[in-house]
Formats: sequence, structure tokens, C-alpha cells
Amino acid sequence: MKHEFPVTLTTNPGTKPESKGLRFGTVFTDHMFVMEYNEEKGWHDGRIVPYGPIELDPAACCLHYGQEMFEGLKAYKTADGRVQLFRPYMNAKRTNRTNDRLCIPEIDEDLFVDAIKALVKVEQDWIPSGEGTSLYIRPFIFATEPFLGVRRATEYKFMIILSPVGPYFVNGLQPTKMYVEDVYTRAAKGGTGEAKCAGNYGGSLKAQEIAHEKGFEQILWLDAKEHKYIEEIGSANAFFVIGDEVVTSPLNGSILPGITRDSIIALCKEKGIKVSERQISIDDLEAAYRNGELKEMFASGTAAIVSPVGELLYKGEKMVINNNEIGPVAQEMYNTIYGIQTGKIEDFMNWTVPVE
Ligand code: PLP
Ligand code: COI
Repeated sequence: MKHEFPVTLTTNPGTKPESKGLRFGTVFTDHMFVMEYNEEKGWHDGRIVPYGPIELDPAACCLHYGQEMFEGLKAYKTADGRVQLFRPYMNAKRTNRTNDRLCIPEIDEDLFVDAIKALVKVEQDWIPSGEGTSLYIRPFIFATEPFLGVRRATEYKFMIILSPVGPYFVNGLQPTKMYVEDVYTRAAKGGTGEAKCAGNYGGSLKAQEIAHEKGFEQILWLDAKEHKYIEEIGSANAFFVIGDEVVTSPLNGSILPGITRDSIIALCKEKGIKVSERQISIDDLEAAYRNGELKEMFASGTAAIVSPVGELLYKGEKMVINNNEIGPVAQEMYNTIYGIQTGKIEDFMNWTVPVE
């Protein structure tokens, strides 16, 4: 590691949860990483301290104008006790693309990854080992300068917190139900859809609540202009198996360039499965469903891993996909990705990075 950080250990360690029944994002570990930025010193004073509340000036820019970004990745423990991360430099690169979009100062990729490694190393006993579990890593940056004018802030905090997690979708590998949203939109071209910033999620809650009330776990978003083309899911990218082809929406500026999405495309190519990134309209999807060509749908994301979708509702019409069962492509992608992450499968893609 190029960077080292001082550690202040907690005097009040928490109780580690059982792997069984672990939900997503409700339990936090004993320590967190904190680092500040100002114009004079740049990013400085990175440190690991006991997990706890932070003090923030009520005029801090992030509270008023949403200059905030976050990332998500996971740490895993292999059966022989190694601790590893999955493609963390992809998160570092995406952080800097998001930072650029939100006028947040760039962060050195090695500094970003070393901070994650250092914190995970301190907290490695919190990594759960049950099927589908992992230690979720949440790096985030927010503007702390007390100032009410609208311009880029001059002061920021970078923090990392950790959470032992189970499946993101309540049903895990049981297919989930999705609502195709045709009133609200998530992101428009030229907006912040391809950045990982808080505002994208705050703005999606209303539609998500309506979908929940109707009995759907997640939303499938359509494009903002015509409500015609499939974009992505509220917290994951969307994949379809149509005929013998695996299809996902192209990176068009309004969807998040998912690291799991990139991994699935690469795995399909490696395994000789036909895969394409192309625009699909919801009408074409319905037509494929009606003529029996729509074989599978699944969500891909760090939190979601690979989660099958068994039911879609669009304008009152229900599409039941693969008899509401996980299909062979989703199962293979889940087995391979989670297998590589947890060391059950040899890392033939060279994706894992050890925490030593
Ligand atoms: N799309 C959205 C809106 C997300 O929040 C996420 C989760 O991070 C993804 C896609 C999947 O991205 P990744 O695979 O990098 O986690
Ligand atoms: C992730 O998959 O890492 C996410 O950020 C999704 C969600 C929890 C917002």
C-alpha cells in the first residue's frame, strides 16, 4: 500500500450479527474512515476512527445544494481466510467521473483504494460468511464548506463506512416483481444519471413508493424523453435474454455504468454467450414476451449481485418471465461472479484485489 493511515480503536466494540437472516444496510461496523479536503492542503489527514456521528455546520453546502457522491463495493472472505475486494479500481475511476460531474475535487485512485483496504483490514472480522452475504463498503464525499452561494465548495469530507449485508432484494435469488414506470423519470440526457450522486436516488423515492404500494419491489425506468426505451432499475442495471442473445441498454449518458454490468458483459464474451448493448423499447420487449422470445430478465449490481426478475407490469399488462423462476443465464452469472468474489471459483478474469 502506498498510503498508511493512523488508527484509533474503539473502546466500545459492537456485536457482530449472525449471517443468517442478514438484511442490507442495517448494521455498521466499529470503525470508519475520515479524510478532509481544502484548497490549501488538498485531501489530507486520512484516518480510521471509531464509528459515530459527525459534526456538520448547518450551512454546509451539501445540505443545501446536494454536492454529494457515493460508491458501493464489497469485501469477501475466502474459505482459506483471504480477504478480497472486487474490481475496486473501477469504483475509484467512477468516483472521479462522478466528482467531475459534480465539481468535487478529484481523488487519487490509489488513495481511494488504500483507504478502503486499510479500513477493511481493521474490520475483517465483520465479514460474514453465509451464502449471498458480504461486507458492503460505502465510500462517500460531501461538501462541508459553510456557504450559501451556489458554486463549487472549497471544503469536503471523504468517508467510508462498512456494513455486513445479506441480499439487497428481500427475496434474494427468488425472482422479484418490477413495475415499469411510465410517468416519473429517473434521469435525462445531460443530467446526472450516469453519476453516482445522492440526488438521483432522492428523486426516485416517490415512484418507488408508488410501486411498493402496488406490490412491486423495484422500478424499471424508461427514458425521460419518450418513456419508450428501457434504461435501468432503481439500484441496478437491467439484463434480458431475448432468444439466444443477452441484451442490456447502452451507456447513453443517463444510466449508471455498473461494474457488475461490465463484468457480466465480459463474462458473456469469455463464455461465448451472444451479448449486446443496444436500445430496447418497452414495446419490443412486450412483443418478444408475446412471441415467447423473452426468456429471462435479471438485475445486476453490487448490492443486488445478480437478481432474477419474475414479473413485469407495464400499463396494466403483466409479463410473467420464465415461469417466475431463475433462468440459466442469471444462475450462471450469479454463480460465476459470486464464486469469483468469494474465492469458490478461480479468478480467471483477474478481478479480485487482496486486502493484505
Ligand atoms: N444502477 C444504479 C442506479 C445503481 O444504483 C447501481 C448500484 O450501484 C447500479 C446500476 C449497478 O452498479 P454496480 O454494478 O457498479 O454496483
Ligand atoms: C450498490 O449496488 O452499491 C448501490 O449503490 C445500490 C443501492 C444500495 C443504492
